[in-house]
Amino acid sequence: MPSIVVTGTQWGDEGKGKIVDFLAERADVVARYQGGNNAGHTVVVKGEVHKLHLLPSGILYPGCRCVIGNDVVVDPAVLLQELETLTARGFDAAGLRISNRAHVIMPYHRLLDQLEEEGKGDAKLGTTGRGIGPCYQDKVARTGIRFVSLLDDEDFAAELRRNLDFKNLILTRVYGRAPLDFAAIYDEYRGYAARLRPYVTDTSRLLNRELEAGHKVLFEGAQAAMLDLDHGTYPYVTSSHPIAAHAGVGAGVGPRRIDKVIGVVKAYTTRVGAGPFPTELTNALGDAIREAGHEYGTTTGRPRRCGWLDACVLRYARDVSGIDCMALTRLDILDRLPDLKICTGYRCQGQLLDEFPASLKVLGQVEPVYEDLPGWMTDISTARRYEDLPPACRAYVERIAALSGMRAAIVSVGPARDQTIIREPMFD
Ligand code: GDP
Ligand code: IMO
Ligand code: MG
Repeated sequence: MPSIVVTGTQWGDEGKGKIVDFLAERADVVARYQGGNNAGHTVVVKGEVHKLHLLPSGILYPGCRCVIGNDVVVDPAVLLQELETLTARGFDAAGLRISNRAHVIMPYHRLLDQLEEEGKGDAKLGTTGRGIGPCYQDKVARTGIRFVSLLDDEDFAAELRRNLDFKNLILTRVYGRAPLDFAAIYDEYRGYAARLRPYVTDTSRLLNRELEAGHKVLFEGAQAAMLDLDHGTYPYVTSSHPIAAHAGVGAGVGPRRIDKVIGVVKAYTTRVGAGPFPTELTNALGDAIREAGHEYGTTTGRPRRCGWLDACVLRYARDVSGIDCMALTRLDILDRLPDLKICTGYRCQGQLLDEFPASLKVLGQVEPVYEDLPGWMTDISTARRYEDLPPACRAYVERIAALSGMRAAIVSVGPARDQTIIREPMFD
């Protein structure tokens, strides 16, 4: 089975980076297919913590080629910083390739992200402020700047000039800000272009040849189903498509190239930023989970909102991403909770809902229906086989599998590579 998509099922930060890194040991290529440096994927190798924002989570294996796909929006300064950090730590990123069709995040994207958020007042989304939304807006408006243009001085000058003329009108007339300077941005980005040029290529072609040769390819999603632009809790979503089907669009391969979809599920739920979260715990228990799990954003450092596992979310994510099986992570964070709950359904005005609500109003009104399960009150971080887990812990895992309709193929009991229980072969 040569190609697997790894995708988030909740509101992000499920541990996709850890799972992709774990699977990358046997992969030939890892490709990111959407998002940008709003993502923060943490990979722990031999006790060293790597926070990856743009680099695919296969970059820590010397033999693994890595691709930043066409639907990733790339802030070149952030990418270069990541590359520098990695090489300073003795890793080799020579195998990295960036799509020549990927869009470039410009200084006005970051600025407009912040200004748009401020303008929304109480209705702000709580974006990461990295310019992600505005960059995708330009892509859809057909005015964005792609790597292929960034590498051509003449094209870049013309496109930057056109963009800046319009963005400066918005900055000055709508927001009363100072205009941005063409020459400063042009020079800055020419410097980035010179340094990134060796990595830029047609990555769709590369991936298709790899797949034809029977090589193993992992597609790494950022964010998660509930942050998907179409399928998430709109408008409290990101501006791209984390769901598995988008691996095809975002990396330039056909849908029949995807053999398996793994959904990463955190053993409880978290969310950063604003928006509905039916199982949120805004009490001491929520605080206790945050502290036990160090639930603070990898990218922005913001405290993550914490709550019980929500099987309604998981069933919905299974459908919209077409998930075959799950990688259940961070089970060890629940080690010291005597009583656990799983949300099995939503009730609204006395009625049990049988579909995930599209309406924010309805989502704001739903009451989660909970099932109680006993905790296991044992340190499971040293478990290496499924049988090593205490019976109550296995019962929790099995209940999640039954309620979500996804087999727990991987169970993760800590951030390290070896803290991973694998219950079925992955690349078979
Ligand atoms: P991602 O955005 O989905 O890649 O997830 P993040 O990296 O933002 O957050 C997940 C955090 O959980 C990271 O700090 C990981 O190192 C860590 N992690 C992943 N799996 C496990 C696990 O099974 N147990 C524990 N304790 N930590 C984990
Ligand atoms: P990973 O890949 C969690 C959230 C932001 C905000 C919303 C829109 O690490 O799971 P954006 O900057 O994308 O326009 O913000 O999406 N968000 C994430 N939350 N994990 C992420 O990535 C996220 N990327 C964006 O907090 O609510
Ligand atoms: Mg993250």
